[in-house]
Amino acid sequence: MSDAVDTPTPEEERSAFEKAQEEEEDVDPRTIPEKLEEEPPIGDEIEYPDYPEEDHETWRILVERQMEQLPGRACDAYMRGQEVLQLEADQIPDLADLSRRLNKETGWTVANVPGLIHEKDFFSLLSERKFPSTNYIRGRDELDYTPAPDCFHDIFGHMPMLTQPEFADFYQMYGKAAQNADGADRPRLERFHWFTVEFGLIRENGEKRIFGAGIVSSNEEVTHALSDEVTLHPFDPEHIVEKDDYEVYNLQDELFVLDSFEQLVDGFRDWTTSKGLL
Ligand SMILES: [Fe+2]
Repeated sequence: MSDAVDTPTPEEERSAFEKAQEEEEDVDPRTIPEKLEEEPPIGDEIEYPDYPEEDHETWRILVERQMEQLPGRACDAYMRGQEVLQLEADQIPDLADLSRRLNKETGWTVANVPGLIHEKDFFSLLSERKFPSTNYIRGRDELDYTPAPDCFHDIFGHMPMLTQPEFADFYQMYGKAAQNADGADRPRLERFHWFTVEFGLIRENGEKRIFGAGIVSSNEEVTHALSDEVTLHPFDPEHIVEKDDYEVYNLQDELFVLDSFEQLVDGFRDWTTSKGLL
C-alpha cells in the first residue's frame, strides 16, 4: 500500500506560511496567514479608517525617529520614493492616495488586506502589480518590534521602493515565479525575498545603503545593518536561496549587497528561468 497521500511535506520543503499555520500553542494570531475570502478593495475602493488620534501619534513617532536615521543610510531610490508618495509624519496616509501615486509612477496599485495573508493570495496580488497592505498600526507598546506587518511596515517600509522601475518589475516577476514554485523551491524563494525585499543592501557611489523594508522600518536595524557587526556577501542568487540559517527574530548577522537594481532583475530572472519558474 502506498502511503503517498498522507506523506507530509518534508520540513525543508515547507514554507514559513505553512509552518506558522502548524504551530498550535502560544502563537500570536496575527502571525497566522489568512486566506482571502474575496477580492480585497483596491485603489479608490479603499476606505480611509476613522483612526483614533493615538494611532496618528504612533505613526508620527515611528516616522520621525526613522527619519532621524535614514538620510545617508537609505538608498537614493528609497528616499526619492518617499517624496513621490508624499509620505508625511503628521498622519497615517490614505492607501487610496498612495495607490494613485504608485500607479502613476510604475503601474502598481495598493490592495487593502486584513493582515498576513496566505502565500497564494500574496503571490497572486504581486503578479498583478498589486501591493497587499494593511491599514492598522501597531500598539504603542510595540514601537520597536511587531511580529506581523502593520501599515508602518507596509507603507513606510515597502512602498517607496515600488516607485523604482527595476525593483517594481522585479517584484511582479517574483510573484509570478512564486506562483509556479513547489517543493524546495518555495523556501528558496522565501529566502530570496528575505535577503532582498526585506533585508537588502545596495552599493551606491562606493557606499553601502539600505533598501530592504525590514531594515528601513526598524529602528535598531538601520544602524546595525550598516555596522561592522554584519558580515556582507556580494549578491548571488545561488548563495541566497541556499542560506537557511538566517535570523527571523533577532538582528541580522549576514546580509547581501547589490551593485545595482538591474543586477537584482537580471539575477532573479536567470535563476528562476534556470529552475523553469518563469
Ligand atoms: Fe515586509
